[in-house]
Amino acid sequence: MALTGFFLIIYLIVHALLNALIFYNDDGKIFNEGASFMLHNYFIRFLEIGLFAVFILHIIQGLLLWQQNKAARKIKYEKSNYPREIKWYSRYMGWLGTFLLLFLVMHLAQFWAQTKNELYFNGPEIDLYQQMKGIFTNPIWFTLYMIGLASLLFHLLQGFQSAFQTFGINNRRWIYIIKGVGVFYSVAICLLFASMPLAFMVGWLQ
Ligand code: HEM
Repeated sequence: MALTGFFLIIYLIVHALLNALIFYNDDGKIFNEGASFMLHNYFIRFLEIGLFAVFILHIIQGLLLWQQNKAARKIKYEKSNYPREIKWYSRYMGWLGTFLLLFLVMHLAQFWAQTKNELYFNGPEIDLYQQMKGIFTNPIWFTLYMIGLASLLFHLLQGFQSAFQTFGINNRRWIYIIKGVGVFYSVAICLLFASMPLAFMVGWLQ
């Protein structure tokens, strides 16, 4: 989980930075050029297969882990005495992951499937900037994106730290540094993503 998680952590940085091109506020010209370059680049198409494989592996690993944890605790404790240091979201990684999966299905249908329809099936030409605008100015989609991104925040807060622990980095001083980097990364990436629907919704981007 840790290895696939790391790959996804890096992917999210690239994804968020590329999307941030919308903030040039040039009607999406630069953003659409960047997206079009990625779309027509064979190397990126090849990487995308790897990305999907990693996503699927990460999800399967997560589901197996969730099931194992449940099986290990067949009889529920009468009263759950979790130590205070264990955050609520650590116990709900499975649910957060499930929300994220639903978010991802919705997200891929709204964007990825559209560009692939154009590329492989001669579908209508798609202006991703206008597509974003249409989706993010709709209150229902806007709310679902915000819920998805909140799930991502807690999922990352927990996942980032456990990844390092899995690799055996649990020395006291390093733990503090890693916790800090993890919190910074998780908050920064989710805020950057969330600023995109928000910018369209409140009309900063037209
Ligand atoms: C508001 C935030 C987000 C925006 C505006 C956004 C935008 C986009 C766009 C425009 C595409 C289509 C790219 C193309 O097909 O050429 C895309 C694809 C994709 N997005 Fe997002 N995205 C956001 C958040 C996320 C999050 C949080 C995740 C993961 C948890 C994610 C995962 C993906 C994946 C896996 C793809 C398909 C692979 C790819 O084309 O890169 N996105 N996104």
